[in-house]
Amino acid sequence: MIIISTNKELSLLLDIGLTNLNNDSERENIRKRLSNEIKEIGANRDIFIKIMNGQAVAMIQIIYKNADNDPDLANGVDVAHIHDLEVRKDLHGHGIGKQCVQDLETFAIGKSVRVLTLGVDSTNTKAMKLYHNLGYKIFKEEEGRVPEEKLYLMKKVLDKN
Ligand SMILES: CC(C)(COP(=O)(O)OP(=O)(O)OC[C@H]1O[C@@H](n2cnc3c(N)ncnc32)[C@H](O)[C@@H]1OP(=O)(O)O)[C@@H](O)C(=O)NCCC(=O)NCCS
Repeated sequence: MIIISTNKELSLLLDIGLTNLNNDSERENIRKRLSNEIKEIGANRDIFIKIMNGQAVAMIQIIYKNADNDPDLANGVDVAHIHDLEVRKDLHGHGIGKQCVQDLETFAIGKSVRVLTLGVDSTNTKAMKLYHNLGYKIFKEEEGRVPEEKLYLMKKVLDKN
C-alpha cells in the first residue's frame, strides 16, 4: 500500500470513494471530508491507497490521537483507530478489504501501536464479518444514524509475531 501525502492524490481517493455514491451532494460531502482529512496526514492520521495493476482499488486510514473525541478509540500512544475502509464497488468480494486491514495492522505494529479500534454500523454485515474473522471484538455500542441501527465499536490487540 502507498501512503498518500499531498492533495494531488485526492482524485485517487475520490475515484475509490465515489464508486459507492449516487448523487452530487453525497459526492461534494465526501470531497470536502477527504480534503479535510488529508490536512491531518502526518499529524493525526495516515491515509493509504491500495494499488493493483496500476489502478487505485481501495483506501484505509489510521487515526492516532483524536477519533470522535473518544480516548478509548485512539490515545496518541498505543491505541489507534481504523477509519474509512473502502474498496471500489466493482471489486468487492476479492479479498482486497481483508488485505487492507492486514496491511494496516502490520504498519501499526511498526508504529508501536498495540490496539486497533474501529466503528462499524450494525447493519453492515459484510464489514462486521470481515472484522470478526480478523479477530476484532465489540467492546462498546453507541446509537446509530437511524433508530434501528447501532454503531459497534470493535478492537483488536495486535500480535507482534
Ligand atoms: C466492507 C468492504 C470494505 C469489504 O471489502 P471486500 O474487499 O469486498 O471484502 P473481502 O473480499 O476482503 O472479504 C473479506 C471478508 O468480508 C466478508 N464478506 C465480503 N463480501 C461479503 C459478502 N458479499 N457477504 C458476506 N460477507 C462478505 C467475508 O467475511 C470475507 O471473508 P471470506 O472471504 O474469508 O469469507 C467493502 O464491501 C466496502 O468497501 N464496502 C463499502 C464501504 C464500507 O462499508 N466500509 C466499511 C466501513 S466500517
